[in-house]
Amino acid sequence: MFALELNHISKAYQDGERENLVLNDLSLKIGKGEFAAVLGPSGSGKSTLLTIAGMLLSADKGNIIINGDNVSDRKQKEWTKIRREKLGFIFQNHQLLPYLTTEEQLKLVADMKPYKTKEERNKAVDELLQELGISNCNKKYPKQMSGGEKQRAAIARAFINRPEVILADEPTASLDGTRGRQIAEMIRQEVKIRNTAAIMVTHDERILDLVDSVYRLDYGNLLKI
Ligand SMILES: Nc1ncnc2c1ncn2[C@@H]1O[C@H](COP(=O)(O)OP(=O)(O)OP(=O)(O)O)[C@@H](O)[C@H]1O
Ligand SMILES: [Mg+2]
Repeated sequence: MFALELNHISKAYQDGERENLVLNDLSLKIGKGEFAAVLGPSGSGKSTLLTIAGMLLSADKGNIIINGDNVSDRKQKEWTKIRREKLGFIFQNHQLLPYLTTEEQLKLVADMKPYKTKEERNKAVDELLQELGISNCNKKYPKQMSGGEKQRAAIARAFINRPEVILADEPTASLDGTRGRQIAEMIRQEVKIRNTAAIMVTHDERILDLVDSVYRLDYGNLLKI
């Protein structure tokens, strides 16, 4: 069974009079513990693809299956719950809340579902921060942290609910080469420790040795390369 299956996804945006077909009968399967990269020119539909896989936008056609569960059949009302329980997001700009410390960012989103007690959850927060090398940032606000530290905090936040699938849209784009590579390494590390599937959109071909599979999005479809 695959962690994530996208089957025959199509999506068009209305562009004035014209329809702009961005995804054209696209299919993709990602296994548990698989770290996949998606490349493609600007405007090719990479963010649209992640937004649909992340159930933040509905496709015109096709379906999404997460660990055997056809989630696109569910009512829109249930999507928020599925997003919270099954999916983790990492964006180009960390999107941390400015008025919360790192620890608080994680606790805020930490659903109690994977944890029996608050203590267990707090322990998971500490463990993740340690694995990602930012234990020293637990009481810090985003403005007191470097770009790389903030991006690591965003990774921790994406993993805290033990999601089945991680979706990362250019998570290294705002960082220099070395720090960008470290971020991709951190995502890989967590994907492997936790056996989570992950899709990362990137423009940085230098980090492709860190992923298990590489796809190129072109003319609305994915080619494995
Ligand atoms: N909400 C929208 N309404 C109309 N058109 C849109 C919308 N969002 C995206 N598009 C168009 O769809 C196409 C794909 O956009 P998308 O953001 O998915 O590209 P991308 O591959 O992520 O690009 P980039 O590398 O620049 O981030 C573009 O032509 C864009 O203009
Ligand atoms: Mg994009």
